[in-house]
Amino acid sequence: MAENKDHNTSNKQDDVKRETLTTRQGRVVTDNQNMRTIGNRGPATLENYHFLEKISHFDREEVPERVVHARGSGAFGYFETYGKVGDEPVEKYTRAKVFSGAGKKTPLMVRFSTVAGAKDSPETDRDPRGFAVKMYTEDGNWDLVGNNLKIFFIRDAMKFPDMIHAFKPDPASNVPNPERMFDFVSRSPEAIHMITFLFSPWGIPATYRHMQGSGVNTYKWINDKGEAVLVKYHWEPKQGIRNLTQEEANEIQAKNVVHATQDLYEAIERGDYPEWELFVQIMEDGYHPELDFDPLDDTKLWPEDKFPWLPVGRMVLDRNPKDFHAEIEQAAFGTGVLVDGLDFSDDKMLIGRTFSYSDTQRYRVGANYLQLPVNAPKTSVRTNQHRGQLDHRDPQESGDNPHINYEPSMVGGYREEDKTYPQHEPAYHAAAMSAPIDRPNNYGQAGNTYRSFEDWERDELIKNLSDALAICDKRIQDAMVEHFTQADEDYGRRVKEGIEKKMQEIKEMKKEDSVPGREAGQSKFGQGS
Ligand code: HEM
Repeated sequence: MAENKDHNTSNKQDDVKRETLTTRQGRVVTDNQNMRTIGNRGPATLENYHFLEKISHFDREEVPERVVHARGSGAFGYFETYGKVGDEPVEKYTRAKVFSGAGKKTPLMVRFSTVAGAKDSPETDRDPRGFAVKMYTEDGNWDLVGNNLKIFFIRDAMKFPDMIHAFKPDPASNVPNPERMFDFVSRSPEAIHMITFLFSPWGIPATYRHMQGSGVNTYKWINDKGEAVLVKYHWEPKQGIRNLTQEEANEIQAKNVVHATQDLYEAIERGDYPEWELFVQIMEDGYHPELDFDPLDDTKLWPEDKFPWLPVGRMVLDRNPKDFHAEIEQAAFGTGVLVDGLDFSDDKMLIGRTFSYSDTQRYRVGANYLQLPVNAPKTSVRTNQHRGQLDHRDPQESGDNPHINYEPSMVGGYREEDKTYPQHEPAYHAAAMSAPIDRPNNYGQAGNTYRSFEDWERDELIKNLSDALAICDKRIQDAMVEHFTQADEDYGRRVKEGIEKKMQEIKEMKKEDSVPGREAGQSKFGQGS
């Protein structure tokens, strides 16, 4: 029997001292190649503990993928604060310690991602890119969960599940179809601005290292008097910005569906550490009747001439994960993860998001996802929120009186924090209602963005939109052309002509090849055409 043993013959590391494999119970493994059987070809026995553990653990290796942003990669590094916001001391606006003391470094991790595709989908998809940063600050964790583009499709969280359903493949056939997305968008004119960015080359960043990041939603900064300002965050890559044409993306995708992850990993491995500068835009808290948009509307850019980008620090990524699953797949970011001095605004998207993230993470990773090293703060955690599956708090750290797991108490346990600083307490005087915000102005900035593009970017935009819309229902085509016309007449006219030209080409191609329906390879945003 012994002669038949299939030994691992790899001798790559023979000169290095290698540890012996053990079971998860710590027992040394004597045979990892052959299951235990009666005779060397006989039936297997049930007490095959090592084999059964190995297979059953393998059967459970994957956690559910993220419902959005499933495809991603990440790295570790630090944030270094300038201690100033532009030329002013940062303390004027926020008491968050992460920003104080020029030169102070805060460790962090980042996860970049695409949105609509599944976990192994191509990284060349036309799709926003996620840009999520977790800072392990001295006051607990701060997550800035952003995207590469600075605006979003919708402005009310109520619409998010429908939007994502429309952007994902057809639930019956599982085939991506641009008609679904444009059907939704044609009834959601607030999305026209984002669509204008998405179908331009800005919809396919060349790599994660060459893209911007933005918090997108409006947050607040609170100073030590409890005063608030509205704030937007933006990351600017020191490597420069590079986007791809559809043709360039197609070429990459034919050879490599994981080029962006590979690019990030290899750059860090060779010591070429990517860096971004963090800027903020600040606005006095309030309604701002002088603006033609609501500062809480995430489909709008804040004009830079009125609200300049002010540098506040920089981020460097200098370490790759050692284990993708442990450190990146199980990473859990959320918009509710703020520290003292940072606060929510009433941006309806931000509020909806804040519930959604931790809710999905309790399901995706588990109730105790915050105990995992990548998610746990580097500060000590003293909480009475415990138990649940896989609770692995260190019992040695259960405080001076482990009998008291409630608060308040006169005899022990943790006590409530002293209130050193005044809280920010916004006042409200309005009826509760379900109603859209005022000043929707769905087309003004979409038109500005269209006109701000360089010629080649505009050409790409028209071609990408026309290719995708050419296979849509006529009612959807007409509605979309009307929206683009409202943004800019030239925009609408060119998309209309582009759709007609593309439909004619498809007709001729069908005659020649009798290809049924849509062009081969065309997917949700019309790539591959
Ligand atoms: C991931 C919900 C809007 C950026 C997610 C996840 C959910 C979600 C459920 C998966 C989280 C996980 O499994 O860990 C929502 C809802 C939104 C919304 C309900 C609107 C109401 C946005 C917006 C942005 C954004 C506007 C950009 C600013 C991200 C990013 C991730 C993500 C970057 C991936 C985080 C990671 O790398 O783990 N979102 N989202 N989301 N979302 Fe959103």
